[in-house]
Amino acid sequence: MVQIAIMGYGTIGSGVYDVVNTNQAIIQGNLGKELRVKYVLDLREFPGDPVESVLVHDVNVIINDPEVEIVVETMGGEHPAFEFVSSMLKAGKSVVTSNKNLVAAKGVELMKLAVEHNVNFMYEASVGGGIPIIRPLTRSVLPINDVDEITGILNGTTNYILTKMYHDGSEMASVLKEAQEKGYAERNPEADVEGYDACRKIAILGSIVTGQQIDYQSIPTEGITHVTKEDVLYAKKLGRVIRLLGTCRKVDGTYYAEVAPYMVGSNSPLFAVNGVFNGIMVHGNMLDTVMFYGQGAGSHPTASAVMSDVVDAAAHTGRIIYPGWSGDKIRLGEYDEWKHVFLLRFLGDADRKEAVEAVVGPIQVVEGCVPGEIGFITGSITNRDVAEAAKLEGFISRFRVKR
Ligand code: HSE
Repeated sequence: MVQIAIMGYGTIGSGVYDVVNTNQAIIQGNLGKELRVKYVLDLREFPGDPVESVLVHDVNVIINDPEVEIVVETMGGEHPAFEFVSSMLKAGKSVVTSNKNLVAAKGVELMKLAVEHNVNFMYEASVGGGIPIIRPLTRSVLPINDVDEITGILNGTTNYILTKMYHDGSEMASVLKEAQEKGYAERNPEADVEGYDACRKIAILGSIVTGQQIDYQSIPTEGITHVTKEDVLYAKKLGRVIRLLGTCRKVDGTYYAEVAPYMVGSNSPLFAVNGVFNGIMVHGNMLDTVMFYGQGAGSHPTASAVMSDVVDAAAHTGRIIYPGWSGDKIRLGEYDEWKHVFLLRFLGDADRKEAVEAVVGPIQVVEGCVPGEIGFITGSITNRDVAEAAKLEGFISRFRVKR
């Protein structure tokens, strides 16, 4: 028998408990032995909930129980998750986490600690909710390919909001409330709408791809709070949708990373990724492009990803099977030099074209979207060029357009 403990009985932790109980027979059939939740750690009481029989409030009960082989961390946040996880690894227990804040900030340290104690620190559920991404990326893609781009929709809450804004004309605040009720949003929803959650996730994916630490603090991050109804009108006129993308790309041997909203066209598979779904595209020099697609948030899908790690850890006791990356910090390329295509919005009409072209080069006019405005689609230009265009009279805003 394999005995596990769960730290944190919130949306994901309770999902893990459900998955173990509901799919007990399937898990046992695959693992070849019984898997049981011995403890659930939470500060709160859950009167009447079946979890009561295994609920504990003191982390030391788990640390000091040699029968617990694997610990699931679904508390979220950096502290005290880091201290608790460190103690578990030092006690010789493998740890499985869904906590992207922890993996992005402390992953390298915890992977090192795990190796020192001959156990695994696993984090499949930290990116993409229920989508299997870490395991296929590390086992099937990276050993064979030079991966020059990983990009995608990495946050279910914002994708849910953007989809509803686009199709129903809904306001951001009301849709965010729905996403919270469905258990998609972070405790502090700023983490979703300001792009911080997607930033942690692309930092993790980028670190895996490059093999070096990408500090999430070094990734230029823009959320969706400035996306307006007018932007949606332009997207519709252009036959595009608006998506928040996290990207890590190699250009001429230098890696760039960012989180930002884009207008995405039907030439991209990300165009069709709606609602709480995530889509993660990986480009390898031999593989070409693959997309991983599935529910990016929510209790049971994420718990399924957590349990995939638990089962993997249980099947490989005493063997380090999980990939990490080196603690050497990668130096990302200068963001101002990275080129994108932009939609530039100006007050006025097409008469502005000449003045704008003088700064950013050839542009295409987009007319008839918003009264009193004119839009221009640029060629591939730098953020520095956009900053210059923003100094021109009548400038309203700029929006990235995915090529
Ligand atoms: N708040 C996150 C999201 C949860 O919406 O994607 C999954 O990481």
